[in-house]
Amino acid sequence: MARPKVVITGGAGFIGSHIADALVARTEVVAVDHLKAGKRANLEDAMKAGAVLRKLDILRGDLRPIVRGAEVVYHLAANPDVRLGRDGTKPLIDENVLGTFRVLEACRQEKVPKIVFTSTSTVYGEASVVPTPEDYAPLEPISVYGATKLADEALLSAYAHTFGAQAVIFRLANVVGGRSGHGVVVDFVRKLSRDPKELEILGSEPGTAKSYVHIEDVVAAIEAGTRAADEPVSVFNVGSEDAITVRSLADAICDELGLSGVEYRWTGGAGNGRGWAGDVRAMQLAIERLRATGWRPRKSSEAAVRDAARSLWSALQMSRTKA
Ligand SMILES: NC(=O)c1ccc[n+]([C@@H]2O[C@H](COP(=O)([O-])OP(=O)(O)OC[C@H]3O[C@@H](n4cnc5c(N)ncnc54)[C@H](O)[C@@H]3O)[C@@H](O)[C@H]2O)c1
Repeated sequence: MARPKVVITGGAGFIGSHIADALVARTEVVAVDHLKAGKRANLEDAMKAGAVLRKLDILRGDLRPIVRGAEVVYHLAANPDVRLGRDGTKPLIDENVLGTFRVLEACRQEKVPKIVFTSTSTVYGEASVVPTPEDYAPLEPISVYGATKLADEALLSAYAHTFGAQAVIFRLANVVGGRSGHGVVVDFVRKLSRDPKELEILGSEPGTAKSYVHIEDVVAAIEAGTRAADEPVSVFNVGSEDAITVRSLADAICDELGLSGVEYRWTGGAGNGRGWAGDVRAMQLAIERLRATGWRPRKSSEAAVRDAARSLWSALQMSRTKA
């Protein structure tokens, strides 16, 4: 019997490639990625097991033949940077809002029954309730990234109710693990590999306090939530059970890498511990809704960060040996 087809946009990226690894044994996986941030190497194992990579920009390419016949489209392709880059707001609007619109249009035309979307904790902004539940209001993002993801959620809801596909939305805390190419853990590991004596940290001591969740917990969460979802639109928070400050995160990474006496150089950032404008000060998500499906995170924030630092460090050492 033919295996069900799934499409993963952003499939050569950090989270997308781990989803491909998890699904390839029981589904026909088609990964779509323009390979600007994603890497073919991330999909090496999945491709050996039968996954196919289509190099394509979701903003330009013809998506209809790719999503045709898919039971589920996992839409992950996006600009994942919460911090505004040199090019300002336009790349975020284009890649996140217009990109999602194009994926949804292709899914509508090809009658794809289910769309899974990776949203973010940043849709909550500076929530007054922490841990923050899915029904918290008002949703008031403080970053353009968070705003684009909230706009995407609104589009998914409208498409689900108007055209009948099911939308499953995951609001992810900070995801960490091997193959990650962005975020604070990657930043610290890269800096420490260049200079193991000093670490520049954006913000002021002790920095923000946020929840970090390990990629293995996220993949299991996405599988559990997607299976359990039975509404036209389902929203699930995905995070660990605690939060840590940037200071504790730096201590854990230095300890994990066997570095002692590292001098921290705080930049001052955007005030109140924030690393930059749009950086949320305190983030932890209420995860009872997803726990009700039987899922639970296996790693705390610190354990997730330690494991991620180890994986990223050894990948960095390996790429240096090869170069
Ligand atoms: N990593 C996190 O902490 C985190 C937290 C919350 C939400 N998310 C969301 O999860 C998703 C995956 O994030 P990630 O951390 O794996 O990032 P990533 O950069 O590793 O993956 C994104 C992938 O999408 C691809 N891509 C981007 N724009 C594209 C386009 N126009 N056409 C084709 N491919 C394109 C990139 O090449 C990359 O491979 C994103 O939607 C992100 O917003 C991530």
